[in-house]
Amino acid sequence: MISVGIIGGTGYTGKKLIQYCNSHPFVENYKIYSGKSAGENLYDYFPALVGLVNDTKINSVNDLSYEHDLYFIALPHGESLNYIPALISNGKYVVDLGGDYRLDVEALYEKWYKYSHSSSYLLKTKTYGLADYPSTNYDDLKLVANPGCYPTAVLLSLLPLVENLSEKILSVSCVAYSGTSGAGKKAKTELMLSEMDGNVKAYKVDGHQHEPEILQQLVKKGFDSSFSFTTHLLPVATGIYLTASVHLNESVNQEEINEIYYNVYKNSPFIRLRNTPPELKWVVDTNFCDINVTVKDKVIIITSAIDNLIKGASGQAVQNMNKLFGWDETFGILNKEIKDAAVY
Ligand SMILES: NC(=O)c1ccc[n+]([C@@H]2O[C@H](COP(=O)([O-])OP(=O)(O)OC[C@H]3O[C@@H](n4cnc5c(N)ncnc54)[C@H](OP(=O)(O)O)[C@@H]3O)[C@@H](O)[C@H]2O)c1
Repeated sequence: MISVGIIGGTGYTGKKLIQYCNSHPFVENYKIYSGKSAGENLYDYFPALVGLVNDTKINSVNDLSYEHDLYFIALPHGESLNYIPALISNGKYVVDLGGDYRLDVEALYEKWYKYSHSSSYLLKTKTYGLADYPSTNYDDLKLVANPGCYPTAVLLSLLPLVENLSEKILSVSCVAYSGTSGAGKKAKTELMLSEMDGNVKAYKVDGHQHEPEILQQLVKKGFDSSFSFTTHLLPVATGIYLTASVHLNESVNQEEINEIYYNVYKNSPFIRLRNTPPELKWVVDTNFCDINVTVKDKVIIITSAIDNLIKGASGQAVQNMNKLFGWDETFGILNKEIKDAAVY
């Protein structure tokens, strides 16, 4: 049994972490920490949780101690740098849901996140925790950088192809769509219902901060081709939908590609390979990533869908905790999926 600290527990991803910790068989207790909302009651922020959680006190990050075994960090970019180095040097396990430790190269933080990294020594010792990908290694680890929401969808969709067919890939074009919760709970005019209802728009077309993260991981598996990544905002609260077009220098057939994906994901309980393109509704409020791969001669179209707050953040973070402690990766998560499936 372990004790868990949830830093940033009053945000969108924090809420999901609380729900998962609450039902996890090996989380004995957890405490919630945050900034402005410290001292208030969790139920004032999440009335839907009334009666469903054990601990409703919101503690201040200023009172953070080393009493927990593992810390989930769900803070805005840059903020985790204030806490993670001390947690690691005190021997704690950390799963960071933000982007502060995902990139391997310090200089990329200046370019993409507009700050200079104050604990770049940890970039080398962390693992990039793409929990559903079989080759992700958890040996002797303390710090897991939980992948971004878009990178989770893109990498789970593309890595099997890149690992097995990289020499045939001419180019990859990713067109991705996200619901508005991807930006967190802070109010922004462009995310208001009156702006987004009935609307779709592309954003950060000239460069999204998730692009270097995606390329970093693809290149490690042999990717060396042209790549584009275009993000859009959808008029829904939750969900990411991806269409990736992979152009090849020779024809492949559907059976050989199916076999590649089946072999990679045959032991991944949260990956569902689909015969038809998935729909967002199939995965919202679950930790599943649904993927369809359709071969059209020299072009492969991959469509995939995830819940950005769960598979793209908190569900994957709990999977990473399970893997760090050597537990079944579904603990605390899959029972919830089954329960939800029974409800709807
Ligand atoms: N939303 C997604 O789909 C998603 C997906 C993958 C990864 N992520 C990443 O996960 C992290 C959390 O995202 P989110 O969407 O949950 O954000 P959010 O809804 O904006 O919540 C942020 C949390 O951080 C706390 N906080 C903000 N500034 C703070 C400070 N200076 N000191 C202490 N606490 C502070 C907030 O509490 P107070 O209001 O009380 O200060 C709140 O609990 C981000 O790094 C985000 O990029 C998000």
